Amino acid sequence: MKTIVVTGANRGIGFEICNELGALGHEVIVTARNVRKGIDASNKMRDKGYNTHFYQLDVEEEKSITLFTHELGKSHHQVDVLINNAAILRDNGMHLRDLDMKVFDRMMKINLKGPMLLTRAMLRMLKNSSDPRVINVSSGMGALNTMGGGNPAYRLSKAALNALTGIFSAEEPGIKFNAMCPGWVKTTMGGSAATRDVEKGAETVVWLSTAEDIPQGKFIRDKKVIDW
Ligand SMILES: NC(=O)c1ccc[n+]([C@@H]2O[C@H](COP(=O)([O-])OP(=O)(O)OC[C@H]3O[C@@H](n4cnc5c(N)ncnc54)[C@H](OP(=O)(O)O)[C@@H]3O)[C@@H](O)[C@H]2O)c1
Repeated sequence: MKTIVVTGANRGIGFEICNELGALGHEVIVTARNVRKGIDASNKMRDKGYNTHFYQLDVEEEKSITLFTHELGKSHHQVDVLINNAAILRDNGMHLRDLDMKVFDRMMKINLKGPMLLTRAMLRMLKNSSDPRVINVSSGMGALNTMGGGNPAYRLSKAALNALTGIFSAEEPGIKFNAMCPGWVKTTMGGSAATRDVEKGAETVVWLSTAEDIPQGKFIRDKKVIDW
């Protein structure tokens, strides 16, 4: 049984990841920025008999990250897996020339700085695990080898999240860091035209969390290493 922390767990891919890991018998630390939504999500999992605990966590706020790790540390000596899933997309269909810098700053704060600060704050608890892992939920939109136009802040935030994965992986060799792309998934972010359901979107994260042999310091989609 692993202890697994998931950000942005109240809906979408994060909610599905928690349910699947809960069904496998792992202890799931369900986090969300909105307390009511987070408790509702966690209660739905508890009703199914899953071992879940809810903590408030807004990855946009450094204070919230500090408070969360402090509170979790009171009851948990170790965390085995951290899943940085929370993100926003606020520049859909926009071009760089039209991008509002306030939107850019907020997206970088939530999609990049949040995972960076949270991971840093959790290093000690992760290192107490015998098999620590960090999974950054990224996107093919951040892949440099296929970089295109549109959604510039989102692309930049995910390209930087990929770089963050590589830096942490080099600096903390005792922890398995990977970035992954869930594909185009039917969620509020992905929209109804998306080609994948949430089960498919969560599949590779669940695999990276639980499989015995996984890559290290790679970018992964559908359980296979892809180009950065
Ligand atoms: N859907 C896709 O097609 C797709 C494709 C590639 C990559 N991804 C990535 O997959 C991940 C999950 O996306 P999704 O499709 O499930 O999106 P979603 O349905 O929009 O859900 C996003 C989740 O992130 C949470 N969140 C946003 N800002 C937060 C903050 N400051 N602190 C804590 N939680 C916050 C949201 O909470 P609230 O309910 O409070 O807003 C929500 O729980 C993201 O990293 C996304 O970039 C998605």
